[in-house]
Amino acid sequence: MKLSKTQLEQFERDGYLFFPSLFTPEETKSLNDAVPALYARREAYNVREKGSDAVRTNFAAHMYSEPFAKLARHPRMIEPVESLFGEKLYMHQFKINGKMAFEGDVWQWHQDYGTWKNDDLMPTERAMNIAIFLDDVNEFNGPLMFIPGSHKKGVIDAKHDLTTTSYPLWTVDNALISQLVDRAGGAQGGIVSPKGPAGSMILFHSCLVHASGSNLSPFNRVSVYLSLCAVSNHIRRHKRPEYIAHRDFTAIECLPDDCLLRDYPVDLPWRNGVPASASITSTELIDAAVAA
Ligand code: SIN
Ligand code: MN
Repeated sequence: MKLSKTQLEQFERDGYLFFPSLFTPEETKSLNDAVPALYARREAYNVREKGSDAVRTNFAAHMYSEPFAKLARHPRMIEPVESLFGEKLYMHQFKINGKMAFEGDVWQWHQDYGTWKNDDLMPTERAMNIAIFLDDVNEFNGPLMFIPGSHKKGVIDAKHDLTTTSYPLWTVDNALISQLVDRAGGAQGGIVSPKGPAGSMILFHSCLVHASGSNLSPFNRVSVYLSLCAVSNHIRRHKRPEYIAHRDFTAIECLPDDCLLRDYPVDLPWRNGVPASASITSTELIDAAVAA
């Protein structure tokens, strides 16, 4: 899938592109059906909501679940980003966010690249987020919110919030958010939230400021997020466990477009459990960076 000139201009201006119903209900079902069994596992890669058993985020399912391993190599997700960067990609992070009915907590305002830079020492913002809705997303179940054009600010000041939710995040303060929203049009378009059926996809810039509210509705809002990084821009530090910030910088090779509906062999290196080495972290620079 290639992006048109109009889409490229829109991405440059707004920092995101929305593709409603890019995946069929049958394709989405092949993924959604696998989620409850993954969320039921008592593993470090399932981060639960504060004070609740509901899964907030599941990390690295592409390493141990066949449907998600296929999604991680899907040309509808990988090719547009490859062509934007003019380079092959590796998977920096892969997560299935729950935002479960009645339980899903907020994601504070943040930029993803802020975290990748501060925690992982990713050299530049040549990394992209892709979200796929596994449930319909509406105004009630905590849709993702963006400040259009905020990616043009580059990396902005953030503070490490360790207390608001169960997951530490580098967050942007309210005064700066107010300014950014004002500049983006205030009440007229200063915040947008793409909504649509399961199977819709959002591609968004790693510096785009985003957040989501809590889910007080009876509707789950499960979404998958791929964070794809240009291979040359790989992280330089392993301060976070490997299931959160991946350490294998091998370029992704796409499967055929029909891969979600057919059997294709995929490598599942963590099928029998996450190796102990994945939890070992360090604030030292990694050898590859030192050698570079
Ligand atoms: C994220 O920003 O990584 C997740 C936001 C969400 O799922 O609402
Ligand atoms: Mn984010």
